[in-house]
Amino acid sequence: MAKPALPPVRSAVRDLTPQLLADRRHLHQHPELSWQETETQAYLLRRLTEIGLSDVRPIARTGATALVEGGRPGPCVLWRADIDALPIPEKTTLPFASVNDGVMHACGHDAHMAIALALARLFHQSRQQLCGAVRFVFQPAEEASGGAAACIADGVLEHPRVAVALGLHISADIPLGAINLAPGPFFAAPTAFRITITGRGGHAAAPHQSVDAIVVAAHAITALQTVVSRSVPPSEQAVLTIGKLQAGFRGNVIAESATMTGTIRTYTRPVLDLTIRRTEEILAGICAAFGATFTFEHTTSCPPLVNDPDVTAAVLDLARGYFGPDHIIGVPTMGAEDMSVFLEARPGCYFWLGARNEARGIAGRHHDPGFTIDEDALPLGVEFGARIIEHFLSR
Ligand code: NI
Repeated sequence: MAKPALPPVRSAVRDLTPQLLADRRHLHQHPELSWQETETQAYLLRRLTEIGLSDVRPIARTGATALVEGGRPGPCVLWRADIDALPIPEKTTLPFASVNDGVMHACGHDAHMAIALALARLFHQSRQQLCGAVRFVFQPAEEASGGAAACIADGVLEHPRVAVALGLHISADIPLGAINLAPGPFFAAPTAFRITITGRGGHAAAPHQSVDAIVVAAHAITALQTVVSRSVPPSEQAVLTIGKLQAGFRGNVIAESATMTGTIRTYTRPVLDLTIRRTEEILAGICAAFGATFTFEHTTSCPPLVNDPDVTAAVLDLARGYFGPDHIIGVPTMGAEDMSVFLEARPGCYFWLGARNEARGIAGRHHDPGFTIDEDALPLGVEFGARIIEHFLSR
C-alpha cells in the first residue's frame, strides 16, 4: 500500500530524527514501573546535560527537569512528558523489545520522552533567537498517582513562572498523520471505589437464618446501573463500572460478605458529587431492605483534564494548518491522565498524536502486550510540538 502523505518536517527535525529513534528504542528496551524509573532518570539527565540545557536536575524522586533559556525576554512554556511503563510482559517481536521481565512501555511513554528530548535539542540549538524559555518536565508515575503533583511541588511551575503548559500522548487508536484534541474536558477524573456488603453467613439449606450477601450485592449492582442512566443529566457524562466482585466460599455456604471494586469517571465536580451521593443512597436503601450493612470507600486520584479554550483554539488553528482540517478528531475520552494537575495550575492544552498504521500492521491497543506505534509519528510530534511552543513564545 502507498505510504500516506505526511505533513512536512523542517530540516533541523529531519537531522535529529536518527537520535530521536535511538532514544525511543533505548527507552523502550529498558522500561521501568512508576516510582522506580531510576535508570530512565539517569538516562534523561545524561542526555539533557549532553545537549547542554540549563537547570538540569532530578525532580519528584525519579523524574527530571531542564530549561532552555532564550536569548531574548518572553514567556515560559512548559512541555511535559511522562516516563513510566506498565507491569505487562511484552509480546512484540521488535528488536528493541523490553529486556526487563514483566515490564513494558505499553502506553508509549517512551515516545513521549524521545519527542521531549528532541524538542529540547531543537530549542537549545536556536536558543539565541528565542523569546522566553521552555521548561521540560519528565514526569514519573503517570500510571500510578502523584507524579504530576510531585513535579509541581519541586517547583517546575516557577523560576521562570510558567505561562502555558503543553504536552501530547501518542495514540495507537488514531491514524498516523491525525491529531485528536478539543477544548474543555478531554480526560475524566478517575474515582476508584470499594464497596463491602456484610450480611450473615450460614448453611445454604437454611437461607432463612442468614442474610445472603451475594443476593444483596446482585440487587445493588443492578440498581447502581441507574446512577448514570437515571440520575446524571443526559447532557453530562459519567461512567460507573464495577470491575471486580468477590464473595463466598463454596456452593453449600451462604456468603457473609461481598466486595465490589470499580471506577467512576466524571468531567466535573458536581457530577462526581452526584454520582457518589446516589451510589451511597442506593446502597443504603438496598442494604436496609435486606438487613445487610455496607461500607463505601472512594478516592479521586486526579482532577479531570480540561483544555483551556484560548490555548486550545490556537493549537487547533496550528493543527489545521499542519495536519489539515480533515485530520483533526475532536473526541474526549473517559480515560484519565494526570497532566490534568498541570492544567489545573496553568492554562494549557494536551492532545493525542496519531501513530496507528494498519497498512503496516500497527494496530494494537494501549496497555496491551502487543502495543506498537508507527515511529513515523515521532518527527511529526517534534515538528508540531515545536510549532505550538514557538507560537506561545512569540506572543
Ligand atoms: Ni499513557
